[in-house]
Amino acid sequence: MQRSSEEIKTRCACVIENKSIVALVGASGSPSAAHEMVFAESKEIQRIKRADGLRCCAEIILPSIASSFQPKPATSVMTRHRQKRRKVMQQKKRILTGDRPTGQLHIGHYVGTLKNRIRLQDEYECFFIIADLQVLTDHLDDHASIESNVYKVMCDYLGVGLRPENTFFVQSQVPELAELTMYFSFLVTLARLHRNPTVKDEAKTYEVTNMSYGFLGYPISQAADILAFKADLIPVGQDQLPHIEQTREIVRSFNRVFGREVFTLPHPLIGEVPILVGTDGNNKMSKSLDNFVAFAHSPQEIERRILNMVSDRKRAYRKDPGHPDECFAFKYWSIFSPNDTPVVRQECESATRGCRDCKAQLASKLNEHLAEVRERRQRYVSQPDLVWDILATGIRRARTVAAETLVEVREAMKIAFPKLPIKGGK
Ligand code: TRP
Repeated sequence: MQRSSEEIKTRCACVIENKSIVALVGASGSPSAAHEMVFAESKEIQRIKRADGLRCCAEIILPSIASSFQPKPATSVMTRHRQKRRKVMQQKKRILTGDRPTGQLHIGHYVGTLKNRIRLQDEYECFFIIADLQVLTDHLDDHASIESNVYKVMCDYLGVGLRPENTFFVQSQVPELAELTMYFSFLVTLARLHRNPTVKDEAKTYEVTNMSYGFLGYPISQAADILAFKADLIPVGQDQLPHIEQTREIVRSFNRVFGREVFTLPHPLIGEVPILVGTDGNNKMSKSLDNFVAFAHSPQEIERRILNMVSDRKRAYRKDPGHPDECFAFKYWSIFSPNDTPVVRQECESATRGCRDCKAQLASKLNEHLAEVRERRQRYVSQPDLVWDILATGIRRARTVAAETLVEVREAMKIAFPKLPIKGGK
């Protein structure tokens, strides 16, 4: 049900916590009329959401509502509202997903998983992990750049449109994950780890012959990343499916071995383009193969990369008709600007469009699409304190949630030791 701005203005009061408006409550104080409010990066109110998930049209008038009500002391209405809000958060299903901080994110990540994350971030409670420890699997020598890469990934996340009020955190800063990895490690056989096709591919790509224990076992650590938050949905690229399957096996065996339903099965969600071929026309888009188009690239750099991309291998001369169905540039057209494909196809097949012009046009389309991302990303690049702050808040929240799971896990495993005050299982 949509209401007019004026209606909302007259019906609602503000609940303010820690100097931030966290909710509007119906003047009647009825919890069913409670609205959850989310702040924009700029700290201005950008969006308001009803507790039941319906969007209201109050964006513009909200600041005036904010100033027309005084902060309320912690009254019973407010306490009740907080409880209600907590319940609403709990009822939301959880997403957990993330990336390794090996450099910039690119348009392959966008169509493979980021688009899903952006689409679902209102519907789900979202946890985004920047998996710095996973970098040590096949990029051990890159450890010195982990910190700056974490920052870059954060700017990419926020730039592409993930809102700062989601929970963003760094894997190494949540020690509960290492603890859970240890516990899970007893549930997975070496033979099972050796069968993981993604691990095998990575070892091959990076020519890792002497695989470390941590590399072979990282799918167990990824299961801990997911299960510490009891996540329901895992939006990932196709290469991550074996890890989700491994996680599901761990859920089953943990619950069976320790006799308690501590975990439930998480489900993967794959993007509409599970694998985007890179600009070399041979491999999956990836930073290490330098066949990528990143959010951090300048418009000129994007143009250069697209102009150099492999397109129609069968078309030798400009006057020859092209083969859109075998052309990588056409694939990009169909993904990033599908409305243009009939014209592009027709002009290509009739040789009225040359490959160079086609790619130049494609580059400007991509740049057009990325303009907003670039601008928003730049805003974060220039505010490092804000970015680190968003991460610090996320880490605190992630630790709280993971610690709750660990209490349950230790109890189920009978290693809570309530009589020992040092850990006490609490
Ligand atoms: N393995 C993922 C990648 O390489 C990163 C990752 C770590 C992850 N932990 C996760 C993804 C948990 C999803 C869920 O990009």
